[in-house]
Amino acid sequence: MSEREGSQRERTQFALTVNGERREVEADPDTPLLYVLRNDLGLMGARFGCGLGICGACFVHVDGAVVASCDTPLWSVEGRTVVTVEGLAPGDALHPVQQAVLDEQAAQCAYCVTGVIMSGAALLARTPKPDEAAVVGALERNLCRCGAHGRMVRAVLRAGDG
Ligand code: FES
Ligand code: FES
Repeated sequence: MSEREGSQRERTQFALTVNGERREVEADPDTPLLYVLRNDLGLMGARFGCGLGICGACFVHVDGAVVASCDTPLWSVEGRTVVTVEGLAPGDALHPVQQAVLDEQAAQCAYCVTGVIMSGAALLARTPKPDEAAVVGALERNLCRCGAHGRMVRAVLRAGDG
């Protein structure tokens, strides 16, 4: 048995910052961050879609980068800063991308929308007024089964105009 296989059975204490708060979690080191967020920390915004890092439903920010939390083991975020859709804006305020998604009525079933918002917010943090090509590029890892992708792109563009 490899050292990694052996460690999968251990529960280990990890500390990370989530939405501005230091959180401690005891879990198997290989537990996907998505499960920790949803099951241990009660943050249900990031969603399980494919579980393979290819649909974007589970996207969060880790140290400012967009990351598939379904495909990110807990051990890899020890000491790092995680932001979920719940922590994008303070209190009851909405992040400009969240407001623009509402204004554009961009979501249909909305299953994909939190991942889209995390991709859009990361883009605007780097490029406050992106052009359409930049927005399309930023959202290309987000799959929308409802076919609302064009409205999502318009929403992120609108947020950049705001
Ligand atoms: S559920 Fe994580 S990318 Fe699809
Ligand atoms: S709005 Fe339904 S999957 Fe995107």
